[in-house]
Amino acid sequence: MMRKKIVAGNWKMNLDLRDGIKLVKELVGGSLPLETMTIIAPPFIHLEEVGKQLNGTLIKLAAQNCHFKDSGAYTGEVSPTMLRSVAVEYVIVGHSERREYFGETDELILKKIKAALGVGIIPIYCCGEPLEIREKGSHQDFVRRQLNESILLLAEKEISQIVIAYEPIWAIGTGLTASPEQAQEMHAFIRQQVAETFSKTIADSISILYGGSVKPDNAGHLFSQADVDGGLVGGASLKASDFLAIVNS
Ligand code: PGA
Repeated sequence: MMRKKIVAGNWKMNLDLRDGIKLVKELVGGSLPLETMTIIAPPFIHLEEVGKQLNGTLIKLAAQNCHFKDSGAYTGEVSPTMLRSVAVEYVIVGHSERREYFGETDELILKKIKAALGVGIIPIYCCGEPLEIREKGSHQDFVRRQLNESILLLAEKEISQIVIAYEPIWAIGTGLTASPEQAQEMHAFIRQQVAETFSKTIADSISILYGGSVKPDNAGHLFSQADVDGGLVGGASLKASDFLAIVNS
């Protein structure tokens, strides 16, 4: 089964609108491979304008978060329906920074995934262990628990639509990258969990991205692993030449 190759850029809380548009213009003017899906996730407030710039290009638009309700008294939140109305196609959910700084639990993340799918937005579900868990050697148990409490509770037709991102927390923004072998081992493990709960056919069709200090000089080696279907890129997505080099890896 051919899985989609995907590279997604997570801008996090960076770039004002002017700098964001400048970056988008550089990306759109660069050379992008047809066989890899390129996605960028700017802050909420830039989505509409960035979306206009991406119209008719190969780059898809993602949000970095969403609420699980359609509308209502949730000050400061943005619903999947609102994202849909500005042509957002993907949404990152469960990023470790949302879990750590905003107390997001797998229970909440599962609601967000279902809400996004409900309006036709594809969730990019993030999981991954902190350093002390990796050092204790219990990273697989940790990630298994995250999966058990979230995506493995989805219906079969839901799980087959999502994208998974494995992001070891110790590698995010630290310059430490998981070795290609560490990434491959965890990606194969995640795929096996999906296969055991659903089926091998479904597991084989899901793209699993690696995230955590992906850079132009390590992307090729990481992406060449059998179960690594691309990357979720933070810091290096803010520089057009670096992001384009990663997409082309
Ligand atoms: P990084 O971030 O590439 O800056 O490590 C990755 C992420 O948080 O998605």
